[in-house]
Amino acid sequence: MPRDPRYDILFEPVRIGPVTAKNRFFQVPHCNGMGMSFPTSMAVMRHVKAEGGWAVVCTEETGIHPSSDISPYVEGRLWDDRDIPVFARMNEGIHAHGALAGIELTHTGARDACLYSREVPLAVAHLPVAAGDHPTQARAMDKADIRAYRRWHREAALRARRAGFDLIYVYCRPGTSLNGDFLSRARNQRTDEYGGSLENRLRLTREVLEEAREAVGDSCAIALRFAVDYAARPDGTADMEESHRVVELLAELPDLWDVNIRGWHRDSMPSRFGREGAQEALVSFVKKLTTRPVVGVGRFTSPDSMVSQIRRGILDFIGAARPSIADPFLPRKIEEGRLDDIRECIGCNICVSADFTMVPLRCTQNPTMGEEWRRGWHPERIPPRGSTEPVLVVGAGPAGLECARALGQRGYEVTLAEARRHPGGRVGEESRLPGLAEWGRVRDYRVQQIGKMANLRTYLESRLDAQAVMELGLPRVILATGARWRRDGVGRTHIAPLPGLSSLAVYTPEDVMAGRRPEGPVVIYDDDRYYMGGVLAEKLRLEGLDVTLVTPAADVSAWTHATLEQGWIEQRLSDLGVAIVEKHAIAACEAGGLRLAHVRSGREKLLPCVSLVLVTMRLPDDALYAELASDPRRLEAAGIRSLTRIGDCLAPSTIAAAVYAGHRAAREMDAPMAEEVPFKRELIALEPLNPAAGENPDRYLGSE
Ligand SMILES: Cc1cc2nc3c(=O)[nH]c(=O)nc-3n(C[C@H](O)[C@H](O)[C@H](O)COP(=O)(O)O)c2cc1C
Ligand code: SF4
Repeated sequence: MPRDPRYDILFEPVRIGPVTAKNRFFQVPHCNGMGMSFPTSMAVMRHVKAEGGWAVVCTEETGIHPSSDISPYVEGRLWDDRDIPVFARMNEGIHAHGALAGIELTHTGARDACLYSREVPLAVAHLPVAAGDHPTQARAMDKADIRAYRRWHREAALRARRAGFDLIYVYCRPGTSLNGDFLSRARNQRTDEYGGSLENRLRLTREVLEEAREAVGDSCAIALRFAVDYAARPDGTADMEESHRVVELLAELPDLWDVNIRGWHRDSMPSRFGREGAQEALVSFVKKLTTRPVVGVGRFTSPDSMVSQIRRGILDFIGAARPSIADPFLPRKIEEGRLDDIRECIGCNICVSADFTMVPLRCTQNPTMGEEWRRGWHPERIPPRGSTEPVLVVGAGPAGLECARALGQRGYEVTLAEARRHPGGRVGEESRLPGLAEWGRVRDYRVQQIGKMANLRTYLESRLDAQAVMELGLPRVILATGARWRRDGVGRTHIAPLPGLSSLAVYTPEDVMAGRRPEGPVVIYDDDRYYMGGVLAEKLRLEGLDVTLVTPAADVSAWTHATLEQGWIEQRLSDLGVAIVEKHAIAACEAGGLRLAHVRSGREKLLPCVSLVLVTMRLPDDALYAELASDPRRLEAAGIRSLTRIGDCLAPSTIAAAVYAGHRAAREMDAPMAEEVPFKRELIALEPLNPAAGENPDRYLGSE
């Protein structure tokens, strides 16, 4: 289909200093848990982005020196020439698709503890390191340190050019980069020419920008990533006047302004707390003060919003981290007029959790993310079917929908049966909870795709029992029948059912989602620790109930630290007047309330309530599987050659895990049996030993 002419503007080339981007789609820096540990996986993931039409594809934050060692997080590293080949491999593939490659050079100052290098972190002042509560302090840089830092940055820029980069970043964000910390009035208490006035605090950023330009500016563009609301007044509000001054003072110095906002939890705003384009009000001033192109972010997935940003003079480039993760082919789909095919980011920040857990990037919407090289999964292409045998998929939740979609894409004849009136399973129910509407995109994208497939038939309100499955007699059966929350309190903390449950009105999340309204006062007991407890507390409080959330964890919705939602959730619950009791488990349920015990001291206290909502763990809804699997001979007689269960019905987990399981089952249908390790690994290359220095292999083997 030809592209809609309304979107032509998105495909105009834009000049950035000495280089030209072929269109306005710009993948801003984002880490991916692969970088220096799994470099080929990282490189191929970026190649796919370039193939998908992004005109600029950037690295993650990339450390320039051992005194800025980001370990244990897996980011980029360009400490010396030996790191060049990693990026050369990345850039080769990016260039092959006609895109520009950018690198975000950074020294993270007082953020990281240098756990691997064991160097003393360097910072604008003596400061405790910020990441990870490590009992480590960074030391204040003296003039020699500043000179050294400037040299490292310049040398890293030269290396970046040798690695083939077209765009080199200077990073200026307080709390994350040395340049930003020097700029910050709060952090920079120096009395030398790098402290005090704005001009002095900006000196380091200016020097580094000028030196990068001098080193490589004839062939590479120089970008400045700047958090526009970094400056805080004493009352905590943003001092935007200072930010305006910064842009005025540096206006034409970088070839490109990449602007975003302070605090990762605000920048990568979860959809529960912020919408597409939410940064506009803060960043819109920048273009008025510079003639250089400006890139900004805001979880942009709608081409209309993108065009609006450009036409209204807010941005020149549509920056994207998460939308490019959820759909690496987003630009191509707009270009080819295939808007229905866009897999829109849902703003769940599972991608961010991969960074915190130090594993390759995962995405709820895009199950191929991080698997491009190691499993050879492409987000758009999939091998054709391996047989003509039809497949029955039971359950149209996230696993079943993705499995059916991907099987359909492979060309299988698929029958998808769903017991409920609507497809979506848990996603359908959960997306009706406060703030989770965008999560419904997991269902919508798949239903949309499936609707276009002539080889796929969906039957709603079709609960199949074992007899019905056998009567259908389709040779391949995949069960994705989901899971249900437990009603007895068993979970992380309680290995046996809670005593005295019959004395209270007990509800599960499904009850609440189905509209059963507890009577107050109600306690939500959250031992699941992800979003469900918090979001149910919000829902019931909004309905006017007196709600207390009790959790054995140290924080409300504790795992959501990894998705940048925790602070927002806690703030919202507190604003709504939900009472919070942390580090307490249920000792017993009694008529009129709960006896709670502190998880460390065991000290007990009473909490009156009428109703109890238990959010502890789920059990697979696998009765159908059990019945079918119990009689292999009947299966065989019915012509069923394979029976598989996937997603929550195998082991309940995240929506991302369910989508992944569905995708994997579809890919593996009729595929050769995987090796024991079902993906390619990147192993550390052993350094040669130096016998002259006494490094003898036998020395390390020990004796029997
Ligand atoms: C998984 C992930 C990793 C990120 N890593 C970086 C990074 O290394 N450097 C950086 O400047 N910003 C990083 N960001 C922030 C993004 O560049 C971007 O500013 C933010 O996500 C908002 O854009 P979006 O709404 O398009 O995701 C990261 C964001 C995500 C989601
Ligand atoms: S994990 Fe969630 S937030 Fe991240 S890119 Fe995918 S859909 Fe978007």
